[in-house]
Amino acid sequence: MNTSVMTGEPAGRYTHGHARAVLASHGARTAANSAAYLIPHLSSGMAVLDVGCGPGTITLDLAEIVAPGVVTGLERVEEPLTSARLTAAARGDHTTRFEQGDAMHLPYPDASFDVVHAHQVLQHLMDPVGALREMMRVCRPGGWIAARDADYAAMTWYPEIREIDGWRSVYSRIARANGGEPGAGRRMRAWSRAAGIPHAVFSTSVWTYATAEECAWWGNGQANRVLGATFVQQAAQHGISAEQVRAMATGWREWGDHPDAWFSMPHAELLARMP
Ligand SMILES: C[S@@+](CC[C@H](N)C(=O)[O-])C[C@H]1O[C@@H](n2cnc3c(N)ncnc32)[C@H](O)[C@@H]1O
Repeated sequence: MNTSVMTGEPAGRYTHGHARAVLASHGARTAANSAAYLIPHLSSGMAVLDVGCGPGTITLDLAEIVAPGVVTGLERVEEPLTSARLTAAARGDHTTRFEQGDAMHLPYPDASFDVVHAHQVLQHLMDPVGALREMMRVCRPGGWIAARDADYAAMTWYPEIREIDGWRSVYSRIARANGGEPGAGRRMRAWSRAAGIPHAVFSTSVWTYATAEECAWWGNGQANRVLGATFVQQAAQHGISAEQVRAMATGWREWGDHPDAWFSMPHAELLARMP
């Protein structure tokens, strides 16, 4: 059920927003840590579409791999594209395009790309099956569809800090109210079958934070994200007070500073070659 109808939340809203703390977190992503399952199938000269590219760090890595092939990063809103264009310029990439558009209505003709990729995007969409159909439509025969997505309920951490459990519960309620599905990972096969993707292959891979530096970075980053106006305002709409949100942030920082801290985030991966 889309609870946005019940809560008055704007349906289809991107739950995380694009504040600095969010872009900093997304900006640490690389093709190696987020698209390793796809890399062996990439080759020089391919045209690639990165749907929901965010600040574009994965996009720009893909561009390095397929150069002189052209990569296009697509985003529904302009905010992260500003960051993406700056990063492209800093990396000396004057070829990659960053364009505004909707994953649900890709603004490209049929069979335009050799690879159509989406990382942590389907979980935010009201109709992930429709988005996969769009990805198939713009992919050339013989080309590749690749999607990777997280699964919040499958995330594990230690120590078991109660406020982080609270964060996951509140985040999941907000994301569902916005029309998303935080349990995207386990639904990847179901969505792929519903979209009619032929010969899809599924795999999983995990982000692990288990060094002092990684845990401090992730814990502080998560604390900054929950303290951001986007989360605070949405949490308030679900009856969560500013004080409760501050406790979540404190919990994240405590976790990040703990010498035994561990966090793992499993992802599901879908890879399919178009007939
Ligand atoms: C979790 S971020 C992932 C960004 C990037 N793929 C990465 O992994 O670094 C999800 C992105 O999807 C974008 N997005 C959400 N709904 C979208 C839509 N309907 N069309 C295009 N992009 C969308 C958001 O704006 C956000 O930047």
